Amino acid sequence: MIPINLPKIGEEEVEAVVKVMRSGPLTNALGAGPMVTQFEKNFAKFAGVKHAIAVNTGTAALHSAIVAAGVKQGDEVILPSFTFVATAEAVVMAGGKPVFTDIDPETYNISPAVIKKNITKKTKAIIPVDLYGLSAEIKPISEIATKHGLAVVEDAAQAHGATYNGKPAGVFADAACWSLYASKNMTTGEGGIITTDGDEMAETLRLIRTHGEKAKYASLMLGYNYRMSEIQAAIGLVQLDKLPAFVAKRRENAKRLTRLLAKTDKLQLPEETNDRQHSWYLYTVRLKNATENERNKIVEELRQKGIGAEVYYVNPVHLMPYYRENFGGRKLPETEKAAKQVFSLPIHPSVTEAQVDYIGKTLLSLL
Ligand SMILES: Cc1ncc(COP(=O)(O)O)c(C=O)c1O
Repeated sequence: MIPINLPKIGEEEVEAVVKVMRSGPLTNALGAGPMVTQFEKNFAKFAGVKHAIAVNTGTAALHSAIVAAGVKQGDEVILPSFTFVATAEAVVMAGGKPVFTDIDPETYNISPAVIKKNITKKTKAIIPVDLYGLSAEIKPISEIATKHGLAVVEDAAQAHGATYNGKPAGVFADAACWSLYASKNMTTGEGGIITTDGDEMAETLRLIRTHGEKAKYASLMLGYNYRMSEIQAAIGLVQLDKLPAFVAKRRENAKRLTRLLAKTDKLQLPEETNDRQHSWYLYTVRLKNATENERNKIVEELRQKGIGAEVYYVNPVHLMPYYRENFGGRKLPETEKAAKQVFSLPIHPSVTEAQVDYIGKTLLSLL
């Protein structure tokens, strides 16, 4: 089976881990050991911002950023439902109410026009998600946020290597949250990192990461143990150096697959524009005008032929039992339609040209 994603770990990562394990320290009580500090410095440079704060998951990154953005009990936060559940989880963990908002059917990203309609007196923040690795429409979203005094926390969990107007994804938000989970464009096994230009925001995030402490045993605010270990940071430093090559190979595979699949008009293919470069975390197609069963049949047939096609996301968050019961009620027609018609194909850096050709030809033969 060609898996949908696969971490690419080399001898360099192994050596970096062994070095930390032999000489230590393994972690730092305030979350800022030498490897973590160096990783943050390098990641901030890559992301084109002043600060990066490393944490232990992308979910922790989102939760920390939502709290640091000032979201409190009862505040409303606008976000897509067509995302991984962690985006909504972070809001609920902070005591906020997720306001699920429909998407643009072409990009699958949250629609600025629908955001405008969903703003109320209780709205505190917006979380655009760079879904599949294509940057959300961050400029119009930032303009709406500025007009209404809202924070923008970008969920860039899938966007390592994506750009918007020539700048790295995340630059135009108050804070951007990245996942370093094993499937992502770069990984630390589990891990996350928040990038921001805000000095005060960065300071608060560092407190939240480690029990609200600037010095041991003197908590200044409610915090958590969201610290990244030195071992994870050592892996991250190597992976970050390799990221440009990983993304270049993903792009090459995506272009090759698009050349093949452009032969049919039954699929809506993913696209990048001059102002938005994809990170190519997921190559997602839509089976136009299809029912859910028709889509599922093709996914199943691809899997039988050794192609690890997957559906992201078969259940939009507002339809999951917990979220439907507590925060449901809103109809999201474009989200519900996309959830029935999309599926993703493997293009990660270990997928060879021959495998891309096989994926393309196999899919064409099934349509
Ligand atoms: C869009 C999105 N948001 C948040 C997360 C959560 O990240 P993590 O799994 O590192 O907690 C992920 C990845 O899993 C994601 O894809």
